[in-house]
Amino acid sequence: MRIGIDRMAFATTNEYVDLVELAKERGVDPNKFTVGIGQDQQAVVPPTQDIVTLGAAAAQKLLTPDLTKNISTVIVATESGIDNSKASAIYIKQLLGLNDFTRTVEMKEACYSATAGIQFAKGLVALNPQETVLVIAADIARYGLNTPGEVTQGAGAVAMLISRNPHLLSLEDTTVAYSQDIMDFWRPLYATEALVDGKYSTNVYIDFFLQTFNRYQQLTGRGLEDFAALTFHMPFTKMGKKGLEGLLGDRKDETASHLRDELTASQLFSRKVGNLYTGSLYLSLMSLLQNSKDLTAGSRIGLFSYGSGAEGEFYTGILEEGYQKYMNDVAQELANRQQVSVAQYEKMFNSQLGMNDKDIEFDDANDHSPFILKGQKNHQRIYQIK
Ligand code: CAA
Repeated sequence: MRIGIDRMAFATTNEYVDLVELAKERGVDPNKFTVGIGQDQQAVVPPTQDIVTLGAAAAQKLLTPDLTKNISTVIVATESGIDNSKASAIYIKQLLGLNDFTRTVEMKEACYSATAGIQFAKGLVALNPQETVLVIAADIARYGLNTPGEVTQGAGAVAMLISRNPHLLSLEDTTVAYSQDIMDFWRPLYATEALVDGKYSTNVYIDFFLQTFNRYQQLTGRGLEDFAALTFHMPFTKMGKKGLEGLLGDRKDETASHLRDELTASQLFSRKVGNLYTGSLYLSLMSLLQNSKDLTAGSRIGLFSYGSGAEGEFYTGILEEGYQKYMNDVAQELANRQQVSVAQYEKMFNSQLGMNDKDIEFDDANDHSPFILKGQKNHQRIYQIK
């Protein structure tokens, strides 16, 4: 039985900041951000948006009444949880109007957990082939104003339906997961911004990619020629390039040049949104599928997932006939956003609910998203459908 991603959809906030403007404001050469880091724009998050509203917005884009009926389980993968106890999946299930006979759970392992969610969903569908699992990767990447990580922030969600006979990508069985207890990036319970050993994290990422890819090669006997493209977790787009170049070395043949072209196609959307943490690999996949000129049904795509702390997984899928029809148009989504100034971005950055324990009501007049975080009352978040 073929099991895999049946449909995908992406949602982000309506505002973005231009990183050339941010560079000038921070006294940095803009080329450092656009070339050295590989980012052009970054999603800005108003206080009326969080992982619940973003996750629900992404999921709403792919659901029809017929598809909704078959959803047995909602898995939300995130490292920007809004509660230490209650799963964001329950709020999202409610906002989407899903049946109460639905399993709802939240998963965490930094940027990696959506991949675990997909693998677990595959197992559920293998046991109960009539079921569909909704996996949502939703995050807000925050490092803090004026930090080296600031340029690698971002926000958004990717929702995916995992089912049998998928229309988009059938998952292959060989997959290699790899984990080690290290401190490259983490966020203590009392912090709203991540702590990071930035340079170390980039080295661990490359090492985990090579570990998982080499083992995959040993297990399957496949080589680079067997791949139409490799996609990467993309905390910033230069990181994907470092991963691929770590593998290619000085190879300059046709296979290497093709994989480099496909990497460029997979980076385009991330350049304009920034890090989605759990969703980044899946936005790279959407970027590849919507911007590559060379892919066809039957193409094998490699996916490298990485989460700090740290865990990596390399796995593969085969593209299905007509896959283009089963995603929302991300370029259009991004073109509809509105640019904000660096001062407006800083104001929004500082107005997040964060660790605030007081009652608060946000002004949502300028937020035209389908789902809104209205505020907090009696220590409970209040959500609204617009
Ligand atoms: N023109 C062109 N390029 C320039 C430049 C200029 N004027 N000035 C600098 N650069 C280049 C540098 O040469 C460097 O390129 P290479 O990495 O290819 O050598 C690049 O810009 C970055 O510059 P720095 O080396 O000075 O690095 P930095 O101190 O600005 O920090 C960072 C960069 C470590 C990525 C930092 O932004 C950070 O800590 N980010 C958050 C952590 C992160 O994303 N880690 C990724 C792996 S962990 C992970 O994947 C999980 C996750 O999502 C967090």
